[in-house]
Amino acid sequence: AMVEKGAYRHFMEKEVHEQPDSVQHTLSEYLDLVTGAAKPQSVDFAAVDRIQIIACGTAFYAGQIGKYAFEKYAGLPCDVEIASEFRYRSPALTPGTVAVAVSQSGETADTLASLTWCKAQGLKTAAVVNVHTSSMAREADVLWPTHAGPEIGVASTKAFTAQVSALLALAVAAGVARGKIDATREAELVKALFEAPRLIAEALQMDGQIRAIAHDLAKATDVLFLGRGAMFPLAMEGALKLKEISYIHAEGYAAGELKHGPIALVDEKTPIIALAPLDEVYEKTASNLQEVAARGGPVVMIAPASAPAPHGAGIRRVDAPDCHPLIAPLVYAVPVQLLAYYTAVQKGTDVDQPRNLAKSVTVE
Ligand code: AGP
Repeated sequence: AMVEKGAYRHFMEKEVHEQPDSVQHTLSEYLDLVTGAAKPQSVDFAAVDRIQIIACGTAFYAGQIGKYAFEKYAGLPCDVEIASEFRYRSPALTPGTVAVAVSQSGETADTLASLTWCKAQGLKTAAVVNVHTSSMAREADVLWPTHAGPEIGVASTKAFTAQVSALLALAVAAGVARGKIDATREAELVKALFEAPRLIAEALQMDGQIRAIAHDLAKATDVLFLGRGAMFPLAMEGALKLKEISYIHAEGYAAGELKHGPIALVDEKTPIIALAPLDEVYEKTASNLQEVAARGGPVVMIAPASAPAPHGAGIRRVDAPDCHPLIAPLVYAVPVQLLAYYTAVQKGTDVDQPRNLAKSVTVE
């Protein structure tokens, strides 16, 4: 059936609003809401030594969020690489590695070629894909589906949060299988994940606050996104989204890396968007923001209202929902997407079909 925009102005806007459902649906593939347990997987995580995630673009950032979760919650070493690099550099892989391709389309040429190569090396392969009949879905030993439904906008949104949902849920499953997560902790984490759809819906209410920020952002030529932990890959995803649809130059940085170079870019014309959930590294991020504000950078801090205010002039707050740190990348994805969306709308670009871009890159 043909997918329609309905009351929405763009497919991207519609897809951003579909995320409470697409995340719920994807989580239900891997977790049981009633029993509070992770569903058993055909990959024996207890016997796996390492996970190698391979992906491009937004799927690569989802993979990096997955890495943080696999290592933190399952003690499972995980590497993530851009497929176009992985494919041509002769990577050294150990036999206990599971290669995981992450892709919305399941057809991206470099990711598919990397997956095929890993399989030929004798590795176990899996594919986190949204198109379940795609080449990657057929090629991989194991299909780990996402249930975002058809994504029309070239800028990936609901496919990204579905990938993150699947990877977070699989990290919990791996932690259980590897004895790193006991039954009490499993129930806590599963419950936290199933709170994501409601908190994503709450984050969609940030609409008005984000529109006001986007109004100013549309005048910028360069924007920096900052975050620590899982907010670091999300910062890079935010920068990619802004570049793709608003054509504004943006970069995502680990907040702690700022003083190693990029802080030289900071001036009153360079907006800094900080993703600062109340987690173990909140205070560290807040102190980086004080440093930037002290150098005249206009800082927008996206954080829960309950987060203690960092001192310093020039720090503008945007209130985000309070959430468990595990689901922060899902909840904070929403303001990041809305920011790119409203900035692009303000600039009058072709949001659903930005210049020079194709929905899936099937030639290298
Ligand atoms: C995302 O907004 C991009 N348009 C792009 O980076 C995309 O994520 C990438 O090309 C990978 O596509 P895939 O998920 O279909 O493999």
